[in-house]
Amino acid sequence: MPLLRSFFIALSQNRALRSFAERSSVGRKMSSRFVAGMTVEDAIAACERLNREGIAATLDSLGESVTKETEARRSADVYHQLLDAIAAHSLNANVSVKLSQMGMDFDPGLAETIVGELVEHASRVDSFVRIDMEGSPYTEATISMTEHLQSRSRDRVGTVLQAYLYRTETDAERLLDQRIRIRLCKGAYKEPPEIAFPDKKDVDTNYGKLARRMMTSGVFCGIATHDEAIVESLLTFVRERSVSKDTFEFQMLYGIRRDLQRRLVRMGFGVRVYVPFGPEWYPYFMRRLAERPANVIFLLKNLLQS
Ligand code: FDA
Repeated sequence: MPLLRSFFIALSQNRALRSFAERSSVGRKMSSRFVAGMTVEDAIAACERLNREGIAATLDSLGESVTKETEARRSADVYHQLLDAIAAHSLNANVSVKLSQMGMDFDPGLAETIVGELVEHASRVDSFVRIDMEGSPYTEATISMTEHLQSRSRDRVGTVLQAYLYRTETDAERLLDQRIRIRLCKGAYKEPPEIAFPDKKDVDTNYGKLARRMMTSGVFCGIATHDEAIVESLLTFVRERSVSKDTFEFQMLYGIRRDLQRRLVRMGFGVRVYVPFGPEWYPYFMRRLAERPANVIFLLKNLLQS
């Protein structure tokens, strides 16, 4: 399995395959398993469907690693449209952005200006900007930028920490001290054993420990996982420690474990679904296959049946 994971993560970075897949109709069809559509309207429609089921959303306009200011500004424009559409439709939703999509690779100052403008927009329309966490070269810069932005617009910005990194326990304390909202996930990139737990069971143990710390910190947090064993153990923890349902929400990805999403809603827990959309779906899609290579068989079966 770790070999297949590495294989799909390597494929997620392959430019030729990406450009072919994103243009092909078969590729687009396969992506619809995990991607809500190609346009802002598709994303808003998906969000409305989720809201009707009592599920909140966070919208992600797919794209990463831009190389020009014009591209970064174009990516930000989509997010400004999303924030306006969320307000206009009174949706229970916010947005998730990637710094590499906002120019971080060639001009960190530009990325901070652009994300700062999004956070100000989110403040005006009573929404929130989550800065997704990318691979480890971005970890420190993402945390520092979130800190700068939190000092300007309190509670309108938060970030993501990854349980597979050794440093995350320290980072969690650092962010909680400043009352910065954290989404906790396991981590979706390939990281070396010098900085990340190589064994999945250690990642899972660290996840449970960090989640418990965050859920009792008094700072609202997002518990982002589809791991039912972890979710069950946290539900027991919530019962035993009388943790208030208002201090956290479960978060899951669009199209994954819809049964579990609905069950948690029925139990009265907050659930938010991450809704990715847009024509640049390929790297996101490949990371989902890397997490669960069995998805390839599932997708191929679906294609052959249709
Ligand atoms: P794990 O991988 O152990 O899976 C547990 C179970 O969940 C599986 O047995 C299966 O049932 C189901 N499952 C998981 N992935 C699946 C898939 N692709 N297809 C079908 N079933 C699947 N990562 C990151 O590095 N930076 C980030 O900013 C984010 N943001 C983010 C937001 C949200 C809302 C979520 C839920 C996840 C992320 N992630 C992320 C991704 C995260 O790091 C991780 O890769 C995935 O969530 C998979 O890990 P699980 O915790 O679900 O556990």
